[in-house]
Amino acid sequence: MKTIITGATDGIGKQTALELAQLGHHVFIHGRNEERLSETKNWILNQVPNAEIQAFRADFASLKEVSTFAKQLLSLNTAFDVLINNAGVIEKKLAYSADGFERTFAINHLAPFYLTLLLLPHLKKQTSCKIINVASDAQATTIDFNALNAEKGFNIYDAYELSKLCNVLFTFKLAREVDQNQITVNALHPGVISTKILHAGWGMGGASWHSGAATSVYLASTSKENQGSGHYYVNKQKAKAVAAAYDKENQDLLWEKSLQMCQLKLS
Ligand SMILES: NC(=O)c1ccc[n+]([C@@H]2O[C@H](COP(=O)([O-])OP(=O)(O)OC[C@H]3O[C@@H](n4cnc5c(N)ncnc54)[C@H](OP(=O)(O)O)[C@@H]3O)[C@@H](O)[C@H]2O)c1
Repeated sequence: MKTIITGATDGIGKQTALELAQLGHHVFIHGRNEERLSETKNWILNQVPNAEIQAFRADFASLKEVSTFAKQLLSLNTAFDVLINNAGVIEKKLAYSADGFERTFAINHLAPFYLTLLLLPHLKKQTSCKIINVASDAQATTIDFNALNAEKGFNIYDAYELSKLCNVLFTFKLAREVDQNQITVNALHPGVISTKILHAGWGMGGASWHSGAATSVYLASTSKENQGSGHYYVNKQKAKAVAAAYDKENQDLLWEKSLQMCQLKLS
């Protein structure tokens, strides 16, 4: 199994990479910092000496870097069995990405949207692939398409919850766009886990990284038939996302707006 894991240099993504390497997956780990990538690679190799690991650096606050990352993956000319869109942040203050988008929205939604769609033509040529989006139960209950970019003011939690609703809307829309016999697309809430995001956003501790990785590892390693597609998982079980996530108009509009923001035309 060949598995891409974004945001694999800390927390849930790092643990997911370790546990999938333990299960024999060849892991393609991503992070924004070379030193943290090599530290992560060594951390995995210390525990799984024969692990196959390749590391890729890309700052998700830059669509150009996301595009370079996608090109590097595609240049390997290999089939990817699993793509886990896990990288994420909580931004305490209003700040903008290299492309002028509010950073939480840019890093948590636009980057995985863009990466996935850049890889999609390649993934569609494979016999099978699973796309797993690490969202959260902290989903906004409504979406204002005139305020995706903090146009009506910035609040740390509103920005984070909007980006996590976007993860689920994107999951449900992409699941409708692809042949689910070939590509499954699911989202998940990992639990309340002791990581940088939780400490920075809520000033509290939570459950272990192992517990946070459990649903990602489950979806990456269980059969496509067992998990289905277009679902939201919590604790390895199908669960209900917020009502706004099931609204097809929301899904379609976010898709169109995101394509425009990434200046992407689908052939
Ligand atoms: N922890 C929770 O309780 C919780 C709950 C619900 C959902 N989640 C979701 O779980 C996912 C993983 O988060 P975590 O809690 O494990 O947080 P974390 O420990 O902070 O890990 C986040 C990962 O994303 C990477 N990242 C951050 N900004 C980036 C950027 N600009 N470009 C590229 N990579 C970047 C980080 O890189 P560095 O190592 O360089 O920082 C790290 O590898 C996120 O999508 C988060 O929203 C977490």
